[in-house]
Amino acid sequence: MTQFLDRRRFIGAVSVSAAALATKAGTARAQGAGPGGPVAIASFNGLGSVAKARDMIRAGADPLDAVVEGVRLVEDDPSDQTVGLGGLPNEDGVVELDSSVMHGPMHRAGAVASLRNIQNPAAVAREVARRTDHCLIVGEGALRFAKKLGFKETNLLTEESRKAWLEWRSKLNDSDDWLAPDEFDIPLDGRDPQAAREGSITHTYGTIHCSALTPGGDLAGVTTTSGLSWKIPGRVGDSPIIGAGLYTDNEVGSAGATGRGEAVIQICGARTIVARMESGDTPEDACLYALRMIADKTRVARLQRPSGKPNFQVLFYAVRRDGTYGSASMWSGRQFAVSDVQGARHEDCAFLFDRADW
Ligand code: GLY
Repeated sequence: MTQFLDRRRFIGAVSVSAAALATKAGTARAQGAGPGGPVAIASFNGLGSVAKARDMIRAGADPLDAVVEGVRLVEDDPSDQTVGLGGLPNEDGVVELDSSVMHGPMHRAGAVASLRNIQNPAAVAREVARRTDHCLIVGEGALRFAKKLGFKETNLLTEESRKAWLEWRSKLNDSDDWLAPDEFDIPLDGRDPQAAREGSITHTYGTIHCSALTPGGDLAGVTTTSGLSWKIPGRVGDSPIIGAGLYTDNEVGSAGATGRGEAVIQICGARTIVARMESGDTPEDACLYALRMIADKTRVARLQRPSGKPNFQVLFYAVRRDGTYGSASMWSGRQFAVSDVQGARHEDCAFLFDRADW
């Protein structure tokens, strides 16, 4: 507990406790952290992140520093095309990153959106929480803020991501002057160029979320992403929206999301989960509740399977102040990362719909 532990923290802690007593009496609140020390939970790509976060907490680090440094491993990894360096770009071929953090003990939040050229948006979001009276800084202002603090500009578009963008762009539609590879090369495999075109226009929503709990019962969370691939420049998903892609309440728990951000924003996903945990839900049940809400409110035909079920994936992750944790996905077959006294590992997500029924 370093950067946030100041005079205001002491005053704040007193007033938060008083507010908690005033507003939470009668609810089924968990008491204290679970046995066995820290717990960190993350999306599947965060196996190294949860291990790092837990190690840092065990060494005495603030939980926010632990999760931000945990996800830095993925932000710095060019082979993960959903986060930081090597993230898939927007429709103009420019990488734009979104991230948010929440520090439970102080109930402070920081976020950046549409941030270009800075590899570690989670660390910039932490600085928004630490050094400013704001919660969210976007675009050019976020870049200027980061540079003032000494963050270095980097070309985030790796050769692999540029090629993926170029393939998407060249197959986007029939009415522009870009030719798909199947058309500018003589096809040797006899494939129908139209079929190749239809099969290739894919978008991804990949992201990393990580929440952690200290043995003393303090919580923090972070979500960081390059967002929806090929998005309209300036599009902001759920990841930097406090209450959607991330929410932490030190008296209850912490939750985050990956997957289709628009759906998560429209139900205030992470806040919904924390509220459900405050009312007594287990983390897994709270995640399933939020997924059910998304499924119920997905009413636009282009987002539905013929059965009426959502045709997209959303995953939620949650840890409660008593050390219990859980994750659930809209469609089955997904896993999340967790690290506790048993070490870092992947576990199966609960799910709302079985992929066999897709
Ligand atoms: N969940 C990441 C995004 O939609 O941007």
